Amino acid sequence: MPKLSVWMVRASLVHMGIGFLFGALILHHKGIPIYAWTWRLLNPHIEMMIFGWTMQFVMGIAFWILPRFSSEPRYGSTRLGWWSLALLNSGVALTALGVWFALNLLSLAGRLSTLSAITLFVILIWPRVKPLGGYAASQHL
Ligand code: HEM
Repeated sequence: MPKLSVWMVRASLVHMGIGFLFGALILHHKGIPIYAWTWRLLNPHIEMMIFGWTMQFVMGIAFWILPRFSSEPRYGSTRLGWWSLALLNSGVALTALGVWFALNLLSLAGRLSTLSAITLFVILIWPRVKPLGGYAASQHL
């Protein structure tokens, strides 16, 4: 597994842990309504579960398993991937903080950062979305 995938999967697991915790707190409050502030965790929960956890996990695994190039760099421009990792995690964190503190500008900055991360990742991974060479190609699979 390449290093970039390792760090994407690790970061996604951190988001999963925190996002689940937020969801559990909201769920607890729905059953036993004692902490009204937990509803403010809903938007951070959504942001972390969709982008931080699910999407980042898929990105990490995709970078690892999609067909590699036959010559170096075999995974494509890894530098784009590291930028994507940094922008995605700061984007999710900024958006979550923005919605928690009701700072629209911060949320917007976070969303733009997440969007840039996805754009860079698509540029990086696009040429690797192709049929495998050899047997699969000869069978028109
Ligand atoms: C991949 C996993 C998950 C994703 C993508 C996800 C996403 C979402 C989304 C989009 C909402 C907003 C729904 C709406 O407004 O109608 C939501 C609400 C919620 N989530 Fe999650 N969630 C996930 C896992 C969890 C887990 C594990 C828990 C609990 C431990 C949880 C607890 C909640 C609660 C309590 C709400 C509020 C429901 C309500 O409005 O009454 N979520 N989640």
